[in-house]
Amino acid sequence: MHWKNVLKDMKPYTPGKSIEEVKKAYQLEEIIKLASNENPYGASPKAQAKLLAGLNGLEIYPDGYAGSLRTQIARKIGVGEDELLFGSGSDEIIVIIARALLGEGTNTICATPTFPQYKHHALIEGAEVKEIPLVDGAHDLDGFLAAIDDNTSVVWLCSPNNPTGNLIENDRLMSFLEQVPAHVLVVLDEAYYEYITNDQYIDTTKLFQQYKNVIILRTFSKAYGLAALRVGYAIGDASVITPLNTARSPFNVTSLSLAVAEEALADDAFIEECRELNRAQMERFYTYAKEHNLHIYPSEANFVLLQVPGSATDATEALLKKGYIVRSGDALGTPGYVRVTIGTEKQNDGFFAAFDTLL
Ligand SMILES: Cc1ncc(COP(=O)(O)O)c(C=O)c1O
Repeated sequence: MHWKNVLKDMKPYTPGKSIEEVKKAYQLEEIIKLASNENPYGASPKAQAKLLAGLNGLEIYPDGYAGSLRTQIARKIGVGEDELLFGSGSDEIIVIIARALLGEGTNTICATPTFPQYKHHALIEGAEVKEIPLVDGAHDLDGFLAAIDDNTSVVWLCSPNNPTGNLIENDRLMSFLEQVPAHVLVVLDEAYYEYITNDQYIDTTKLFQQYKNVIILRTFSKAYGLAALRVGYAIGDASVITPLNTARSPFNVTSLSLAVAEEALADDAFIEECRELNRAQMERFYTYAKEHNLHIYPSEANFVLLQVPGSATDATEALLKKGYIVRSGDALGTPGYVRVTIGTEKQNDGFFAAFDTLL
């Protein structure tokens, strides 16, 4: 078989450990997973009710246009229906972008460390990947600008950035967009958008009206608590959305996922409550880090990158034994740190007690 050469040097995505895996390995009754930035409060009760009510017509293909959810999102954020693209999670939209715009002879630019899927799919498509190191956990946008050349096809911005949680502030973003050449697509991945409380955030949903080369990625997997159902979407100018839509597979989001996401979208009170609970619990992480003289990055997401005493792998293993799954910074490009999803009050009480034993 004629595999793409690049696949020989790459590995499949390794997900964080599953609850069942850890239960079995460590003979523990209860496991708290704080590793994948899921919503510890679940999904809106209204969305859950919709799921339980189920769906008739399983023999019928989903609406490939995602018409009903499309109308609701377009109304909610005030964009046209042809300015939205749907994916099986924002992961799939990343694949579609790479497939449509990247290949031999092109290059793409992202931060390091950041969400690894940008690089992963760019490499598979045969593009050169230029990685610009973060500065104090934040994107070095001047470094991005310096790396852009005639062959640059896509730049990936992640805000808040995974794994540091940093936000790209309004003025820096606008100055960057002003300088990026029009032939470069700027992907602004806002998977954690709903958690942002910083007043340096601007509403990015209309940016494409001014800069046609900008596309925003959002997801129902994080604050909406629907990671299992796989729904993500992109907002951009029709001149960008239409070719991406052509590269999409026709029935990529299931009927049940579309229906449940629509219910979830309507429950603003749930999202607001999650944002407030997340913020209050995040403060506890800052206080804990300060009390124990550990560095922590300022986060606008639902996770924090927290320094550990000693190696990240050892700390992750020790926390696992206590029943807490976190992500080791050694796997994320941030040695000496763990990435911890902010849990509920009770989960965090337990996490801090487990972490105390590392000190
Ligand atoms: C920054 C970022 N983008 C995209 C995703 C993918 O999310 P999904 O495919 O579930 O929408 C994640 C998931 O962790 C993420 O952290």
